[in-house]
Amino acid sequence: MCVAVCETHKELYKELDQFIEKVKDKPGILIAVLHKAQEIFGWLPQEVQEYIAEKLGVPVSEVYGVVTFYNFFATKPKGKNQIKICLGTACYVKGADRVMEHFLEELGVQAEEVTPDGLFSVHPVRCLGACSMAPVVLVGEKDFYGKVTPDMVSKIIAAYRRGGRNE
Ligand code: FES
Repeated sequence: MCVAVCETHKELYKELDQFIEKVKDKPGILIAVLHKAQEIFGWLPQEVQEYIAEKLGVPVSEVYGVVTFYNFFATKPKGKNQIKICLGTACYVKGADRVMEHFLEELGVQAEEVTPDGLFSVHPVRCLGACSMAPVVLVGEKDFYGKVTPDMVSKIIAAYRRGGRNE
């Protein structure tokens, strides 16, 4: 039986279908399809996982298993700007927990929650490999901030409210 497709997401499912069509004869494509789906939808809602299972003819449990095994797959929605705060040891001893608190307070969310305007979500992460710059914050995939102090938080957020990093 077909999995119901939400009307508003039809275009997104269409894009996913086109990708599946291109790769369907290749072996071991589940991870590639999940990556693509995450790129398209921004995360992997349960109905998308079920849709992929049906399309690829694999058990839903296999798809869930892969999604929960790899931490780069998101099972919750994320903000347009994902703020990753390193809580690794070097950052923690330099006050990363206070930086985190300021982000959460200023945005009025809990960790991993999305702000009502969809612009931000805050994610604690492990060492980002830049311990000498501790505490470090990464916004999106490439906007890196080092030696972050709580009083820098408002300015960082304001930059993304205006649409991008303010150098
Ligand atoms: S502990 Fe934060 S970058 Fe290494």
